[in-house]
Amino acid sequence: METPDWKNLPFGYIRTDYNVRCQYKDGKWGKLEVSSSEYVQIHIAASGLHYGQEAFEGLKAYMCKDGKIRLFRWEENARRLMLSAEGIKMAPVPVDLFREAIFTAVSLNKKFVPPYGSGATLYIRPLLYGSGAEVGVKPSSEYTFIVFVTPVGPYFKGGVKPVDMLICRDVDRAAPLGTGIYKVGGNYAASLRAQIAAKEGGYSTAIFLDAKEKKYIDECGPANFFGIKGDTYVTPKSESILRSITNMSLISLAEKMGMKTERRRVPVEELSTFSEAGACGTAAVISPIRKIFDPEKNITYEFCKDGKPGDTTMRLYNKLVGIQNGDEPDDFGWMTEVK
Ligand SMILES: Cc1ncc(COP(=O)(O)O)c(C=O)c1O
Repeated sequence: METPDWKNLPFGYIRTDYNVRCQYKDGKWGKLEVSSSEYVQIHIAASGLHYGQEAFEGLKAYMCKDGKIRLFRWEENARRLMLSAEGIKMAPVPVDLFREAIFTAVSLNKKFVPPYGSGATLYIRPLLYGSGAEVGVKPSSEYTFIVFVTPVGPYFKGGVKPVDMLICRDVDRAAPLGTGIYKVGGNYAASLRAQIAAKEGGYSTAIFLDAKEKKYIDECGPANFFGIKGDTYVTPKSESILRSITNMSLISLAEKMGMKTERRRVPVEELSTFSEAGACGTAAVISPIRKIFDPEKNITYEFCKDGKPGDTTMRLYNKLVGIQNGDEPDDFGWMTEVK
């Protein structure tokens, strides 16, 4: 395959040369295999197709300033995939196999890692699903683990732009004791009605509230929420949201910058007290929020003066992106070189 036109790279799927695959059978994982096909053969009764035994991860490889390719906090993704696997009774992928798979997938596709300074990155997608045939509802005895990569353009073309979001009360993406903390496909399918409705209303995404009381902020579509109040970084504590690795990292950076951090329940009304707010995740790092509309109360919460992202948001954003691109020292030891 030719290398893509880096300047016009979309935030979508582009074919690369290779992916890697591994099968779990008879109680153990087999050898990692390299494939150049974009397709899998799957049993028509696979539990991943029928009963939602499927989990995935998302992380990125960066071409750093010194010309070396590095991954950001991959061990956290390995850990989270194990948590997801345990949550829906799949065979967990051991950390060593996860490491071998992602590093092999990136190494074999080095020419697809976008250049330093382009804002584009190589997105890495590990995927695990039940591939054994089951008709009764029970965990599969066979699993398939795949890692593919695809170069993605910058989330915000032409610089970080604040977005508008819509509070959603008529759809829940996950139940309090359900699967919200796992990165499983079912949560994303469940979120689609709300996401489409938000988009149709001109919003970038829907904000989900806690499913039980509908009082507290849960997540912003596929990203965690944070608000800034004085010198405090506030982010929701909830049993039904994904433990964002970006959020974890922003908390560490905020503390290093001398800010206070709070992970606790965040009532919807508290939005009026934040000077800045944002959504954080691997895709965009931070999407600053311009305004949030609550249709039930007919209230609009506004966060950006002159439509510009706030100073604290941008300081955090620049610091994290700087570490990922190798412009800033990696004081936390978050980056691992791909040899
Ligand atoms: C539902 C959900 N919440 C939060 C996040 C952000 O997590 P991370 O920072 O690990 O990418 C994601 C994206 O991965 C997500 O899908």
